[in-house]
Amino acid sequence: MTQIIVALAADHAGFSLKEKLKSEVESMNIKYIDLGTNNTDAVDYSDYGKKVAEVLVEGAVNRGVVICGTGIGISIAANRINSIRAAVCHDATTARLARLHNDANIISMGARIIGSEVAKECLRVFLSTPFEGGERHLRRIVKLG
Ligand code: RB5
Repeated sequence: MTQIIVALAADHAGFSLKEKLKSEVESMNIKYIDLGTNNTDAVDYSDYGKKVAEVLVEGAVNRGVVICGTGIGISIAANRINSIRAAVCHDATTARLARLHNDANIISMGARIIGSEVAKECLRVFLSTPFEGGERHLRRIVKLG
């Protein structure tokens, strides 16, 4: 399997959770890059979702983690880039199915919605679950562009 390299980014609402999730990625012996933000000063989630999507499309990383208050704005930003499949996941089952069926390449979480332990669990599942593959899933993903 290709080695996983992760890009993380968050807006001000997600900054603190991003810091915790970096430790979780490290504990899995997975390399990561941190694309900001680096404090709780207000920034626009639109910029940070786009940053992660762009490095993923360029091939510098093959998974992304984006965090804002709800996980919604930053996932919408990432999903505007072709070939990005960012999934908002607030439980481990959704994170697992996002990988198995959708081959999601970015997990998006809302720091104001879930606690850090649930977020860590979602992240672990997301980073350790392979795409199930198979004609039907591939056909649907190809249609997404
Ligand atoms: C920022 O206040 C908040 O709107 C943002 O983090 C996010 O929840 C948007 O979807």
